Amino acid sequence: MASDSKSVAAILTPLKGRDYLSNGDFTSQETLALLELSSQLKSGKRRIDLGNRVLGLIFTKASTRTRVSFQVAMARLGGQIVDLNPQITQLGRGEPLEDTARVLSRFCDAIAIRTFAQEELVKYAYWASIPVINGLTDLEHPCQALADFLTMQEVFGPLTGQTLAYVGDGNNVAHSLMLCGSLLGVNVRIGSPKGFEPMSEIVAQASRLAVNGACIEVFNDPIKAVEGAQALYTDVWASMGQEDEQSSREEAFQGFCLGSELLAQADKEAIVLHCLPAHRGQEITSEVLEGPSSRVFDQAENRLHVQQALLAAVLGGL
Ligand code: CP
Ligand code: NVA
Repeated sequence: MASDSKSVAAILTPLKGRDYLSNGDFTSQETLALLELSSQLKSGKRRIDLGNRVLGLIFTKASTRTRVSFQVAMARLGGQIVDLNPQITQLGRGEPLEDTARVLSRFCDAIAIRTFAQEELVKYAYWASIPVINGLTDLEHPCQALADFLTMQEVFGPLTGQTLAYVGDGNNVAHSLMLCGSLLGVNVRIGSPKGFEPMSEIVAQASRLAVNGACIEVFNDPIKAVEGAQALYTDVWASMGQEDEQSSREEAFQGFCLGSELLAQADKEAIVLHCLPAHRGQEITSEVLEGPSSRVFDQAENRLHVQQALLAAVLGGL
C-alpha cells in the first residue's frame, strides 16, 4: 500500500519513461500510488519541480479540460507545453506519424495525444522514444478515470468495496472506468441500452484485472445498474465523431437519462459524476447535475492533480 510519500516514490519511480495508453498499463499498486501522489500535490504536502521539461500536445479533437489541465500541470511542474495541433504542423499535410513521432522525441520530453483510433496512439508510442499519454481515444480515457476515482476516494475514503454505476453509452469513458475501477477494487456496473454495451474484450480484461473481489457487471436495465451504488456516472450519448448518430442515439437511450428517479435508487449518500461536457436534458437532468449530490466540478479539477502526478512519474521527477 502507498501510505506515505516514501513508499509512493518507491512505487512510482519505475514508471519513468513509461507510456500511459490504457488504465491497464499500470498495476493496481501503481494506480493507487498515483492517486496518493495526486492527493499530496493537491493538498500542497508535496511539490515537484521537473525543471524546464516540455510536453507536446497532439489533439485532433476538441478539448477544454484535458488540454488546459495538461498545460497547467506542466506549468506547476516548472515545465511547459508545445501545441502540436495537426492543423498547424506538417501532420495535417500528411507527414507520416512514424517520422513525426521520432522528430518530436528529439524536442519534447513527453507527448499527450487525443485522437480517434487507439491503434494510432499505439503506433505513436512505438515510434516515439519518450512517454506517450492517452488524452482520449475512441477506446479509452485513462486520465479521466484516475480523476474520477480520486474524486470518489475524497468523498468515501478507501475505494475497495465501493460501487460505481455508469449509465449510458458503453464508450471510452465506460471502458476506462471498468479497467481503472477493477485495479482499485471498485465494483463497476455499466447500464447501457442493447447494442451500446461496452466491448466484451474490455469487460473480460477488467474482470481479469480486478483486485479485492471487485465485480464488473453490465446491465441493460439502468435501475438494476444503479441500485445501492455510491457513485452514479454518465457521459454524452453521442461522443466526438458520432455527431451524425445524435438523433438515433437520443431515441435508443430513452430511459437512460440520469435524473432524480435513478438517483433515488442509489445509496442515499451517493454522488453524481460526469466527465463533462454535459448535455442537460439528455444524458443527465439539470436538476441532478446542479444538485447537492453532484461532484462534477471537483471531478473536473482533479484532472489537473492526477495528470500532474502522472507527468511527474513518467518524467522521472520523484
Ligand atoms: N472530460 C474531458 O476530457 O473534457 P475535455 O473534452 O474538455 O477535455
Ligand atoms: N465520450 C466522450 C467523452 C468526452 C470527454 C467523447 O469521446 O466525446
